[in-house]
Amino acid sequence: MYIYCVQINQALDETPFQEIIRYISPEKKVKIQRFRKPIDAMRSLLGDLIIRYILCKHYGFHNDEIQYGYLEFGKPYLVQHPNIHFNISHSGDWIVGVVSNDLVGIDIEKVTHMKENLSSMVLTDNENKKLQALNESERNLSFFELWTLKESYVKSTGSGLSEGLHTLEISMNNGIIRMKKNEQPIHAYFEILDSIEGYKFSLCSLSQSMDRKIKLFSYHEFKEEIIGFLETSSIRSSKF
Ligand SMILES: CC(C)(COP(=O)(O)OP(=O)(O)OC[C@H]1O[C@@H](n2cnc3c(N)ncnc32)[C@H](O)[C@@H]1OP(=O)(O)O)[C@@H](O)C(=O)NCCC(=O)NCCS
Repeated sequence: MYIYCVQINQALDETPFQEIIRYISPEKKVKIQRFRKPIDAMRSLLGDLIIRYILCKHYGFHNDEIQYGYLEFGKPYLVQHPNIHFNISHSGDWIVGVVSNDLVGIDIEKVTHMKENLSSMVLTDNENKKLQALNESERNLSFFELWTLKESYVKSTGSGLSEGLHTLEISMNNGIIRMKKNEQPIHAYFEILDSIEGYKFSLCSLSQSMDRKIKLFSYHEFKEEIIGFLETSSIRSSKF
């Protein structure tokens, strides 16, 4: 399992954007150009490129054979390779992507204040009670931890928010994270990745093996990797 994370500078200008958009599919280009805010376009573009880069570098793909399809609730998948799974998340300055041989979900959220109206959508009554007993900073950390864990699960299955995050209950015991829905245990494996300060970042896999390689890049490092890699490898000719 490969997890790549890219940090962007919110003040990005348009120029670097044009340098890398040529490596994605024409359909995705149209989608990306429809974003009103350049930062949202950049997040979506980088998510796509992270997955392409991992697939080409570690799975031997050629860029032009990568074709995304979309499941019922919008989860993207690989049309020609449904047994290779991936997922993307973006929040604040970070875009993260994971590719795995098993169903996988990833979620990153910048830690801010827990909003009361959001807590009832995300937490069960039990979880809410436990959080109310904490001081404000612990409560914020716990809230974003639970939120990313639950989102990583609904993103692994593809059900998304239609699942109802407040119907999923998390418990943690000796570092082992478990999830229940309607008192029934859910068979999924979780990990909280502590790699990015100021963010909560969780991974869910529907298989037990969480053997993973994680790599962090600045935007400029990633751009150089992408361009250098695409220019020098056999997929050069596969540029869209
Ligand atoms: C998937 C979802 C939970 C992500 O929420 P989020 O925290 O705002 O977004 P993240 O940054 O973590 O993830 C976004 C990425 O997840 C992926 N994604 C989209 N839908 C997904 C789904 N159902 N399952 C897994 N991954 C999904 C996409 O790659 C997306 O990035 P992209 O659009 O740039 O390609 C949420 O958008 C969702 O549920 N969408 C489906 C629509 C839906 O079910 N609506 C019901 C509302 S009740």
